[in-house]
Amino acid sequence: QESSRARQFEVLQWAESLFQRTLLNSPEAEPARKYLHGRGIDEETMRKFRLGFHPSGWDWLIKQSQGKYPLQLLEDVCLVAKKDNGGYYDFFGHRIIFPIHNERGQAVSFSGRLLPGDERPSKYKNGSATPVFNKSRLLYALDLARDEIRNQDQAIVVEGYTDCIALHQHGIQNAVVTMGTALTDEQVTVLKRFARRVILCFDGDDAGQDAASRSVERFLAQDVDLRILTPPDKLDPADFLESHGADAFRELSKNAPQAWDFRFQMAKRKYGTGTIDGRERVLTEMLNVLAQVPKLSTSVRESILIADLAHRTSVPEETVRGLLNEVRSSGPKRV
Ligand code: GTP
Ligand code: MN
Ligand code: MN
Ligand code: MN
Ligand code: MN
Repeated sequence: QESSRARQFEVLQWAESLFQRTLLNSPEAEPARKYLHGRGIDEETMRKFRLGFHPSGWDWLIKQSQGKYPLQLLEDVCLVAKKDNGGYYDFFGHRIIFPIHNERGQAVSFSGRLLPGDERPSKYKNGSATPVFNKSRLLYALDLARDEIRNQDQAIVVEGYTDCIALHQHGIQNAVVTMGTALTDEQVTVLKRFARRVILCFDGDDAGQDAASRSVERFLAQDVDLRILTPPDKLDPADFLESHGADAFRELSKNAPQAWDFRFQMAKRKYGTGTIDGRERVLTEMLNVLAQVPKLSTSVRESILIADLAHRTSVPEETVRGLLNEVRSSGPKRV
């Protein structure tokens, strides 16, 4: 039978404190402390994000929990998992722990990172969804970033925990993280409560840029001012900060293009605009993007986008509108 939410929050908090104390004090955690320091994460930041360490072995946490919490409860919050033979093992064994908090600052899950040199699969191991952990709605660090997001009327969304932590440590405290790379409608709705502008800053590598591109459609449907910041040289935000510093990052974020421009430039790079064929393909691709948007928040926004697309491709507005209706009714066109 299912444990109560109150008990789930309780055991999560217990585990979080245990991991945190272990990271800060235990001799076993020395390599983890060294690693985090080497990445420029100082002790104040470790405390602010309540980072932790889960020692090795398959039953360290299980032993600590004995007489306090039943295994079923630990399993319900994904701190332990069942083996094929029915026994249990520690889910996050021998990893650096990034606790994940809800908006009220309560621990709801964890992510565990391997130490360098550890050859086991999955650099990061994320907890599964549970009754208290809704991945599609939650944004990591929103509890810490919310006030600054409100003050600046602007949120920065990154894809890695370490990116967010580095940004906060560098004084950029309106940064949050998506759970899994693409941004969801629910996360956009949450952010909209606090800010008009959202700067999406995914990794500069191909995977990050694909995820950024896929997020554009979601934003077009909502009245948000979405900007896309692409770190140069395939860097991620943490790497960029380490080599270029916070002021350079602020400069990039000031100049980040609107999502629509970003998507248009992407299509232009893919097909070119020097030929008639290229221009037609750019138009088709952007029509497909527009048509994927289920329903634009206001018809004003839709009119603006259609007018802009017409202008950029030198195709009459009525033609663009007609083509869009065609794509909407018969599905995306082959580019
Ligand atoms: P480091 O700087 O190497 O610590 O990682 P990062 O913060 O740059 O993260 P990365 O760009 O490698 O990945 C972005 C996000 O994807 C991470 O924060 C994780 O949530 C997730 N992720 C990365 N690697 C894995 C993996 O092996 N398995 C799973 N399930 N998720 C991962
Ligand atoms: Mn990446
Ligand atoms: Mn990184
Ligand atoms: Mn990264
Ligand atoms: Mn620095």
